[in-house]
Amino acid sequence: MQDTATTTKVDVSTTVNGQQRSASVEPRTLLVHMLRESLGLTGTHTGCETGQCGACTVLLNGQAVKSCMVLAVQAEGQEITTIEGVAPRGTLHPIQDAFWEEHGLQCGYCTPGMILSSLSLLSENPDPNEEEIRHAIEGNICRCTGYQSIVKSVQSAAQRLQRGDTPKPIPSGD
Ligand code: FES
Ligand code: FES
Repeated sequence: MQDTATTTKVDVSTTVNGQQRSASVEPRTLLVHMLRESLGLTGTHTGCETGQCGACTVLLNGQAVKSCMVLAVQAEGQEITTIEGVAPRGTLHPIQDAFWEEHGLQCGYCTPGMILSSLSLLSENPDPNEEEIRHAIEGNICRCTGYQSIVKSVQSAAQRLQRGDTPKPIPSGD
């Protein structure tokens, strides 16, 4: 709990996933904590909180950033995309579909960060080679997959986006 008698809070207004959102936070609050705790966007994961693992990756004005390395106040007036915002609710973005089809995840802990780092890459380089994909995700640690299936997922996502795939309903699992 925060001591409101001694802690000065600041209001931060941002655009998150296309919506105006604001939160009252301590000046030292990290963006990842504002997203998760103040805005309820728990799809952004926390791991090391020292910029090493990439679990907290979001897009800030379209660029992948580690949200544990950004103060919430630095996001004032900026545009943020979290994993919740990559596709309309109930649908999978083509890159999410690609990760699903190509087994680009196991436990899924790294996956939101992997996807956002990959989307940042694909927005700048729609047809990356394997080396470029591995370079783009080198700041994202996966303890499960061995990375090969992630690279294949990103390659598949690139093909899907180039042919104009759009979000599709999440499979029911039946
Ligand atoms: Fe941000 Fe690990 S939690 S890089
Ligand atoms: Fe488990 Fe990447 S799927 S950490």
